[in-house]
Formats: sequence, structure tokens, C-alpha cells
Amino acid sequence: MSNNDSKLLVAVDDGYAQTKLYTILPDGTEVKQVRRSSIRTGKQGIGSINGDGFVGLYEVDGVGFTVSELIESEDTKFDGFHTSVLDRVLVNHALVEADLSKFDIDLWTGLPVADFFRDGKKDEAKIALKRENLLKTVKAGGPDVIIPKIGNVNVGCQAVSAWVDFALDNDLNVRDDIDGAVAIIDIGGRTTDIATVMNGGASVDHQRSGTDNIGMLDVYAGLSHGIARKFDVRGNLPLSDLAKAMRNPEKTIKLWGKPRDISDIVDAVLEEFEGKLKRAIEVVIGNGASIDNVVFVGGGSALFTGLLKSFPHNGEIVPDPEFANARGLHKFARHKALLASQGE
Ligand SMILES: Nc1ncnc2c1ncn2[C@@H]1O[C@H](COP(=O)(O)OP(=O)(O)OP(=O)(O)O)[C@@H](O)[C@H]1O
Ligand SMILES: [Mg+2]
Repeated sequence: MSNNDSKLLVAVDDGYAQTKLYTILPDGTEVKQVRRSSIRTGKQGIGSINGDGFVGLYEVDGVGFTVSELIESEDTKFDGFHTSVLDRVLVNHALVEADLSKFDIDLWTGLPVADFFRDGKKDEAKIALKRENLLKTVKAGGPDVIIPKIGNVNVGCQAVSAWVDFALDNDLNVRDDIDGAVAIIDIGGRTTDIATVMNGGASVDHQRSGTDNIGMLDVYAGLSHGIARKFDVRGNLPLSDLAKAMRNPEKTIKLWGKPRDISDIVDAVLEEFEGKLKRAIEVVIGNGASIDNVVFVGGGSALFTGLLKSFPHNGEIVPDPEFANARGLHKFARHKALLASQGE
């Protein structure tokens, strides 16, 4: 599809931990935006206290919401998150932050494997629920918030979208090694999603696909626990500090004004969760012997590189893994439009 001044194809991978937006503007500029899925009920008014970072204020049915990296989020790890008001506000906030108000948005978004499929078939009811939720309006709750119009909502399957990202390059050329079984392992915030895609995308092997509730948010909880024990910290550490410490090559966290070495705790937690993930993956795809490619995506895959040792013959991590689903949704939509324009 060629974007024009009014309609714009935008993919939003609305995860439990992070909201990732991917689009290509009419002038060809690629936009990639990632934010923690950090939201609270109520208008928190931190914008006036702390000038850095955009604070989005919204209203739905008279209830206020604040979206900001500066606040400690409400827990997003509940089953109905993907069809909830919290999700709707987070998705709208991503569009606002990307400054897309002059476009009519053709939105592509996703559901985890276990939500998208039910008994081996698309769960049309769940998909419809997600569409309807995102088509409902969110009101701006502050003067600097201009909400883009969402004209249409499409829902794909998250891990299958990552397969599309793996299978198609940026110019939508298809790889020549995807005729067999490709297992996508998406290590996210709440979930590890596995989808085994067969025959060049013609089918999903449901016996070798599924969703496990293990993800980076559990890793942060383990880290927080370890830090509390070692340094006698009482009360919760902010998620943003824990996530930052995990990404920090020095593996330090600031406590009582000074950076403290937490590398031993990070190593122990990663080892524990790597073991858990390895067992969870093996339950679904064994040791991958009958699979041609085992492809790791999602933010967690950047940290659990040790898992590749379990798949020495066929494992790989995609570049920029946290954007795989969003980029894949965008490529899928473009590919579909291309086929339609060719009358296929
Ligand atoms: N390079 C990296 N190093 C360390 N952590 C990272 C890196 N990239 C991403 N992460 C972390 O990985 C976690 C999972 O990110 P991701 O965006 O895949 O989760 P999600 O899609 O929101 O979760 P889910 O798929 O369960 O809904 C996040 O907490 C993020 O901060
Ligand atoms: Mg995800």
C-alpha cells in the first residue's frame, strides 16, 4: 500500500511490558517508538512537577488516565489486558506520542498465540473484542494531547507477525529457506509465545505452539527480591530502575544515591529464568530437531542469548528483536495490499 497524506498504516505491538509502534511515513521515514506500558487511573499531574518526558492525560467515560514513564504503573499482567481500557489508552498514547494526528490511522495490532487461537482455530470472538475496544474513542484529558483518528483496526497474531518479519525483507522479498517448520519464540514481558509456522506461512502447527506465562516482568521481580535481600531495601523498587539496570552493561543500580554492583544478582536471576525458559520451550518444540529455524524475538531474547546453545544447529536471534512483531504486522499489511493491487 502506498501511504497518502490522510491514511497511514501503523502497527502497534501493545505488550504487557512495552508498547512498540512501527510505521513508515509518506516521505519514507521509518518511525520506531518504544515506551514502557506505564499507566495509572486518575490524572496524576506530574507534568507540572517534572518537566522531562511527555505525560499523556486521557479520559474514558469520565475516568481519567495518566500514561507516563515517570509513574509506577498499575499492574498490566491480567488476562483481559488486551481488550481493556488500559490497553486502549496505551495504544492511543503511542499514536499521540508519534505525532500522527494529521493521519487517518489504519491500525494493525496483535494478540498472543493463546488468545488469537482457540482449539486450533482463530478466536474470532476475542479478535472482534479487541477490534471493538480499539475503535472506541478516548478523549484528550490535557491541552497538549491531540488524538489521531483510528479509522480501522486489524488484529494479527503476535508471534506469527514475527514470522512475517523473519520471512520478508523490508522490500517484501520472501526468504528462500522458509518452506519447512519455523518456530518463533517471543520472550516478552509477561509471556513467552511460541508459534511454529509451516509450509511458507500456509499453516500454524498448534501442537508445537503456545503461550507460557514467563517473561521479563518475572525476571525484574526476581531481581528486585535479590536486591532487597542483599542491600536491605524495604518497599518496592521502581520497574523503570530495574529495567534500566538490566540493560546497563555495568549491571549497577543506584541505591541511596550511589551505584551498587548487582552483577551477581543479575547473573543468578538470568540463570534461573534461562532454565525455566529452556524447559518451557522444550515442552512445546522438544530440542528442535524437526524444526528448520528456531527464531528468537521479543525484548527478552536480547538477554537470554544463552538459550541459543540449546539450538546450536538452527537457532538465531533476529536483529532489533523487540520490534519484530510490530515490523511484521506492518510488512504483513503491506504485503496483503500489494497482492490485492495485483489482483491475487
Ligand atoms: N536489549 C535489551 N536488554 C535488556 N532488556 C531488554 C532489551 N530489549 C528489551 N528489553 C526488555 O525486555 C522486556 C520485554 O520486552 P517486550 O517489548 O518484548 O515485551 P512485551 O511485548 O511488552 O511483553 P508481552 O509480549 O508479554 O506482552 C521489556 O521489559 C524490555 O525492557
Ligand atoms: Mg510482546
